[in-house]
Amino acid sequence: MNKTTDWWRKSVVYQVYPKSFNDSNGDGLGDLLGIDQKIDYLANLGIDVLWLNPIYQSPQVDNGYDIADYYQIEPSLGTMTDFDQLLQHAHQHNIKVLLDLVVNHTSNQHAWFQEALKSKANPYHDYYIWKDGDGTTPPNNWGSSFGGSAWTYVPALKQYYLHLFAKEQPDLNWENPRMRTAIYQMMDWWLAKGVDGFRMDVISLISKKPNYPNGPAKAGSPFGNYYSGAANGPQVHAYLREMHRTVLAHYPVMTVGETPNTTAQQAVKYSAVDRQELDMVFSFDHMHVDYGSNGKFSTNRFDLVALKKRLSDWQTTMAQNNGWNSLYWSNHDQPRPISRFGDDQHYRIRSAKLLGIALHFLQGTPYIYQGEEIGMTNAQFDQLADYNDLETKTAAELMARNPAITSAECQKAIYLHSRDNARTPMPWDGHGGFTTGQPWLKMNPNFPTINVQKDVNDQHGIYQFYQRLIQLRHTQAVITDGDYQLLMPDDPTVYAYTRRNAETTLLVVTNFSDQSQKRPVPPELRQKAAQILIANCDCVPLMTATTTLELPAWGAVVYQFNQS
Ligand code: GLC
Repeated sequence: MNKTTDWWRKSVVYQVYPKSFNDSNGDGLGDLLGIDQKIDYLANLGIDVLWLNPIYQSPQVDNGYDIADYYQIEPSLGTMTDFDQLLQHAHQHNIKVLLDLVVNHTSNQHAWFQEALKSKANPYHDYYIWKDGDGTTPPNNWGSSFGGSAWTYVPALKQYYLHLFAKEQPDLNWENPRMRTAIYQMMDWWLAKGVDGFRMDVISLISKKPNYPNGPAKAGSPFGNYYSGAANGPQVHAYLREMHRTVLAHYPVMTVGETPNTTAQQAVKYSAVDRQELDMVFSFDHMHVDYGSNGKFSTNRFDLVALKKRLSDWQTTMAQNNGWNSLYWSNHDQPRPISRFGDDQHYRIRSAKLLGIALHFLQGTPYIYQGEEIGMTNAQFDQLADYNDLETKTAAELMARNPAITSAECQKAIYLHSRDNARTPMPWDGHGGFTTGQPWLKMNPNFPTINVQKDVNDQHGIYQFYQRLIQLRHTQAVITDGDYQLLMPDDPTVYAYTRRNAETTLLVVTNFSDQSQKRPVPPELRQKAAQILIANCDCVPLMTATTTLELPAWGAVVYQFNQS
């Protein structure tokens, strides 16, 4: 491990969704100065890195993932001076800042696309992906992630352009070396400013198969899935190595790729140290564990055996191949983890802490999504009109047209999976505290009971528990470097594993059920005394030369055995 450049191996990242974090000027939208006002809150939590979702100028069709100018700050979030101030304050508090890099596509309002529309001969035309046609049949069957075809026809050019996401998000043509150079220059500009790295949006999609093959049927959609032709494409690693060589290698930064449709084996190619591409990627395997016949918008509850298998597959594959894991339960695209994997009704606090334990003792770099540290839950708005997210709206339309899905199921799927579950404004106190104006998206109605002020001051709350989880990662080397072993893989309710290095063994046991569970202690750890490193309640048993352990409902504990 290189101590200067690999600082991220012991770091904990906190993700801020700027629009929903804190509003400093009462316009109902979170902003950069609002984040700046909360730097002490973040420093006090103990995090090392702040990842900001896109803050660049954008028409906000997809909340900033449609960028019109990579060199300007989105005016509703503030100014470049505000950004510089935030960066400086974060650095003064020893917090590094990671920006979102969205380079699979731009906004259709970006000057490059506006030029590209002018004519086939325009030098920017080839910055995007075009196919000739007559407007009746798209070049292939790919469906966009947000509904409809992934191709939009431009009659004046007699051509279609590709957009894997909304039609306002045209895909960039990475085969064009001038376009790539322009991206690298832009990245260099931000790094020279002092930014500490990038989270790279859908980076596994930047290289498409040259023949643009039709994809297999897509769940809940009349279109085909584009993943087979667009994910982990033929040149993706060459492009990332070029990016590394040209820009990243010159700065001691951290990079994390968002890599949909990527297996653990494929993730090694992105993140193994000797590959010189990225430092780590986000797995989607564990996030897809509850997908069903209607894809993301299915209503199944997850299966713990499958979840353990997916997490463990990534743990062992990365460790064996010199790769590195990103660890997360939630982000701005996912529902709230307590509602999804825990129990947000009867065991909210305990299951929040259980999820913290289950994840924070794995090998990798953990990511905490805003509100997770106070145990926020899914929102459940009464009306569809209260949801803002593009994906939710298009999914609701599709479900309404599908005779196999009842309106009750549609509502349930949205409650369970809408991205707005994660995007409701941060509740800072019992009055809301996010804005003095009208919030752009409704607050979660439970803000009078689930809010920062209430949780932070509670010594049994979640925030202080997360403080401890972060401290343990900073102080216990075994969490970073120990071997991982899954215990009882087929157990449907208990997730247990060990982490082991030359000095220490940790036994992590978590009960994902509302019944108490008794399980055997692994034979090699019997007859040994251990201390409790952390637990989510006072009710976990001590480990004194015992052969069985009984954990209460949603109980979670980490025992530490020191080698003697
Ligand atoms: C990623 C982002 C998501 C966005 C999409 C298109 O999946 O996390 O929020 O909508 O890419 O940029």
